[in-house]
Amino acid sequence: MSFDLVLFGGTGDLTWRKLMPALFQAFRHGSLPPEGRIIGVGRDAMSDAQYRALIQSRFDSVELAKRPSGGEFERFAALLHYLRMDLSQPADYAQLADTLKARQAETVVMYLATAPALFTGICENMAAVGLNGPQTRVVLEKPLGHDLASNRAINEAVLRVLPEKQIFRIDHYLGKPSVQNLFAMRFGNSLFEPLWRRENIANIQITIAEELGVEKRGAFYDSTGALRDMVQNHALQLLCAIGMEPPINAHADAIRDEKLKVLRSLKPWTPETLKQHVVRGQYAAGSIAGEAVPGYLQEAGVNPDSRTETFVALRTEIANWRWAGVPFYIRTGKRLADRDAHIEVNFRPTPHAIFKLPQGAGNRLVINLQPKDGLELHLFAQGQDNRGGSRASSQTLAPVQLDLDFDKRFGTERVGAYERLLLDVINGRLNLFVRSDEQEEAWRWVEPILDAWQQDSSGPRPYAAGTWGPSASSAMIAKDDYCWSEEC
Ligand code: BG6
Repeated sequence: MSFDLVLFGGTGDLTWRKLMPALFQAFRHGSLPPEGRIIGVGRDAMSDAQYRALIQSRFDSVELAKRPSGGEFERFAALLHYLRMDLSQPADYAQLADTLKARQAETVVMYLATAPALFTGICENMAAVGLNGPQTRVVLEKPLGHDLASNRAINEAVLRVLPEKQIFRIDHYLGKPSVQNLFAMRFGNSLFEPLWRRENIANIQITIAEELGVEKRGAFYDSTGALRDMVQNHALQLLCAIGMEPPINAHADAIRDEKLKVLRSLKPWTPETLKQHVVRGQYAAGSIAGEAVPGYLQEAGVNPDSRTETFVALRTEIANWRWAGVPFYIRTGKRLADRDAHIEVNFRPTPHAIFKLPQGAGNRLVINLQPKDGLELHLFAQGQDNRGGSRASSQTLAPVQLDLDFDKRFGTERVGAYERLLLDVINGRLNLFVRSDEQEEAWRWVEPILDAWQQDSSGPRPYAAGTWGPSASSAMIAKDDYCWSEEC
């Protein structure tokens, strides 16, 4: 199959950090259709050869399972081309159209790795030169807007030139192998489904913790914050994956319909829950892995008086028959104690105790997303040899753990998130992409939090870099008599 992949933002950060390495991996794995062209679009004048050299020089600083060797990069680079464009100039799109029409590829992917403010203009200019035919697919990077109104405006503009089935809204968390395994665990096995409900589950906790700070993205992050950057998209998509009903089949819309129902069932905020169930924080100076790091307000590009949150913890509920009354906790933040993303499903204790167990102890299923990718099932067992032991010791059970490590089982060089998603776009598979109505529903739900913060003069709570966020996060969950995993 022939394809042209046009990378708007072809010299930008996302292109060389994520997209090019992912395309190279796909090429190396032999999964990139050989008759392809990858056309980087940027503002600077550059030849194809200069573009290839630029990407090669950047490869030295990116994470790759194995460095390119034996002419691998050169073979991959033969697919790379460069086009200079001013994205505000309609004439430049005519030149792009000529480049693409000369080849008539079966699939044309327009990857918009640019600031979202440019999305609408790019789509309109593309359509004006006829680049919105049935062979075109457009990929939109997050964030798609900064609130419900701006998200809608972008979606409406894009939908004016292309139908929904040609629009691929990326949430790279959905491409992670660990998240694929979450779907596999729930819908490829019958073991969990009968237990997966309020009668058996006490609470669910979703943690996405990063050790990194804002890196070189201070200015972008300062106008975004953790709620828009992580909760509105990645964390809510994880919540959908863990809470959704089994879809009727594995087609994109069947999956997306069920995720949408979860988002629509999230309990609406009230002034009381906004106060009691949401915590925002901002990192102060501290230390990460023994090294001193500056506070958020000292980061380049950040307003020194900024009230932008780098941490959010919240409690919500999915108001439906399966989940009514079960708390779902989400927390995410930068400069936390560890890089650790996991979902913890805490089961209720046994209804009648004949053994001695710590107060309230129940089974726990931990779905590790990163850096480990696997499942842990925490059970209780008779730990010691009780022959001749006292009656008391035979009644005391010890915690034990079943541990499944997917990297060990399947190898570490598995298909990464961007590789998987780029191949899905080229092959026209929409399952792992977000539909406009899901996105709008997620914005509708986070907006009252943004509004409440705007009116609240107290601002985010400081936490030292290298900790698990402000103490108010622990206090929030403790109100329900639960605790975050590292505290229990
Ligand atoms: C991005 C956010 O979407 O996800 C970043 O914009 C964040 O701020 C990143 O660091 C986290 O992704 P991952 O795959 O490293 O967990």
